[in-house]
Amino acid sequence: MSPQLPDSRNENILINIDGNLYPRDEAKISVFDSAVQGGDAVWEGIRIYNAKVFMLEEHLDRMMDSAKAMAFARIPTREYIKEQIFRTLRANSMFDESHIRLTLTRGKKVSSGMSPHFNQYGCTLIVLAEWKKPVYNVNGIALITSSIRRNPPQCIDSKIHHNNLINNILAKIEANLAGVEDAVMLDLDGFVSETNATNIFFVKNGEIKTPFADSCLSGITRGNVIKIAKEHQVNISEKRISISEMYSADEAFVTGSMGELTPVLNIDGRSIGDGTTGNTTLKFIAWYKKMTENVGIQIPSS
Ligand SMILES: Cc1ncc(COP(=O)(O)O)c(C=O)c1O
Repeated sequence: MSPQLPDSRNENILINIDGNLYPRDEAKISVFDSAVQGGDAVWEGIRIYNAKVFMLEEHLDRMMDSAKAMAFARIPTREYIKEQIFRTLRANSMFDESHIRLTLTRGKKVSSGMSPHFNQYGCTLIVLAEWKKPVYNVNGIALITSSIRRNPPQCIDSKIHHNNLINNILAKIEANLAGVEDAVMLDLDGFVSETNATNIFFVKNGEIKTPFADSCLSGITRGNVIKIAKEHQVNISEKRISISEMYSADEAFVTGSMGELTPVLNIDGRSIGDGTTGNTTLKFIAWYKKMTENVGIQIPSS
């Protein structure tokens, strides 16, 4: 049986590995690559709107910071990465409704093993661009709380956007089994951190709260929501949020490049507010949409 692609337009995409474009079935990395050997890679999820790459510099900043923290050697330049992104989008005629999974691995090793001493070839760069509409139900989603905790900085710093996603995947499996979209992950002290795939915001009495980016990823969409709130003089703060504060919020929404802003209507069987999308959430969805229409780096024609 042939696999069912979420979007059949992705059957014929070209994928960029180290500057070469391959049809999807031929796009392969070495079994010696660090991503295969140890999830030893960093990544970004980036959206394309109206022939512009949204928040490209911010994604490259985070990727470069992550690669530096991981002590990668021979990191490709920003200009090279940008050029490969633009080339890939042009080759696929992707100027809207698409999403890039940009991965930079420590590269191929000369022998299997953990040590970066085996990495003698420099990094591997993968630009995987796909047709992808925002992935969540725009009318709202349900969540559960996962039994798996989000890594604290004592274990692995969430400022590194790395490929060791096992705890997030285990949390996602719990969500799948519970028949909900995603799972809220707590930090080691039992406070809300984020979901397995998104940052999370709560609205209570007109004020917006989101967890500190200590255990959670310092999401670029999260940063945009904070910026938008400040621009519109909406009260917003980062704070520790307990599980019961989460249940008693008037509204909740999750954020990420892949799914944009999505209302959360139920968590662990409790309706959030009256179980419908709240006005503050709707306003932020509209403001964010406007931002995606206007902001971004134009894809050059050649
Ligand atoms: C665990 C997690 N949280 C949050 C996000 C959202 O981050 P961003 O807004 O930068 O896409 C992501 C996206 O990669 C993620 O993997």
